[in-house]
Amino acid sequence: MNKMINVCLIGCGRAGMIHARNYNGNLRHARLIAICDPDEGNLAEVQKELQMEYQYTDYREALKNANIDAIVVVTPTHLHRDIVVAAAKAGKHIFCEKPMAGTEEECNDMIDACREYNVKLQLGFMRRFDENFKTGKEVIENKTVGEVTLLKSLTHGPSEPKEWMFDISKSGGPVAEVNSHDLDTLRWYAGAEVSMIHVIGHNFRSPEKAAEYPDYYDTCAVMMQFTNGIIGMIDGAQYVRYGYDARAEILGTHGIVKVGRQNSNNVEVVTQDKTIQAQSMPSWTKLYQEAYVREAEAFIDAIRHDTGTQVTGHDGKMALILVREGLKSLREKRPVFIE
Ligand SMILES: NC(=O)c1ccc[n+]([C@@H]2O[C@H](COP(=O)([O-])OP(=O)(O)OC[C@H]3O[C@@H](n4cnc5c(N)ncnc54)[C@H](O)[C@@H]3O)[C@@H](O)[C@H]2O)c1
Repeated sequence: MNKMINVCLIGCGRAGMIHARNYNGNLRHARLIAICDPDEGNLAEVQKELQMEYQYTDYREALKNANIDAIVVVTPTHLHRDIVVAAAKAGKHIFCEKPMAGTEEECNDMIDACREYNVKLQLGFMRRFDENFKTGKEVIENKTVGEVTLLKSLTHGPSEPKEWMFDISKSGGPVAEVNSHDLDTLRWYAGAEVSMIHVIGHNFRSPEKAAEYPDYYDTCAVMMQFTNGIIGMIDGAQYVRYGYDARAEILGTHGIVKVGRQNSNNVEVVTQDKTIQAQSMPSWTKLYQEAYVREAEAFIDAIRHDTGTQVTGHDGKMALILVREGLKSLREKRPVFIE
């Protein structure tokens, strides 16, 4: 297919605008032609910047537009299922941000609809398009460090939790908010599914919230085993203040691979008092700037060349299942074995 792929953004918030700016002029084979957001004030603001041909406050109207080939869904998660199923029925290809949905059943509805109506579905795990994380995967495949034995992944987020995040029944805490990317990375690196997950957590940084939210935790350790025997470990935390931190380690039988670092500019200033100063990474938006573009290109390529997507509905569903089983482990204070 040689034509430009016309894209509509559904949900013009914080993450939506990252996609909007990438699709609007940064991709060779796609262009953003439409935006949709029920918040009229926000839509007007976004329109000032993007100058789109079409604007909608209701996604169902956008789906009727025959000029739109694909949609990018970046709404609050509880809306993903309905929008994706309706878009599949309308014959639009779909990129959907993670988390895929609220439940496994909703994920199944989305996967089934995309299969039935023969449209592409790609999930938003952008680490898979980050050059450093991709090199990690290549090293595994080339067996440069031998057979993989143990995989470690770490994500720490800097921001103070919003009030709703203290309620674990709503937010899931760091396992859901911060570490779903690590869960996806380790599944991808291990090339297998998880057979056991064990999560422990504790609230260290917000003790004043402990009475009202006794289940809240800001720090967690996740231990996993994969069906092929590989061991996985995740270190997660939010409200760490020092910056955004995402790294991984692959321990093989003959060596180790270290992916990612914290110095955002690759510059270190070493002074006469024998200290080293460097800039820490302020945010995921900066760390994954390039990865978001590569992710969008991969989605458009899958449409143009009619191939499978690199991050599938199954990947989205498995990340959701691992978060769910991880939270069960945390609540019940025991390892959970997964069929
Ligand atoms: N890949 C990542 O690491 C990453 C990072 C941030 C957010 N996300 C995900 O992206 C999604 C959006 O998160 P966010 O932080 O941008 O939220 P946000 O609240 O900033 O933006 C959501 C936008 O969706 C709009 N919206 C609400 N209902 C809508 C509807 N029916 N139709 C169209 N638009 C609607 C809202 O008005 C708002 O502008 C969530 O699923 C979130 O988990 C993923």
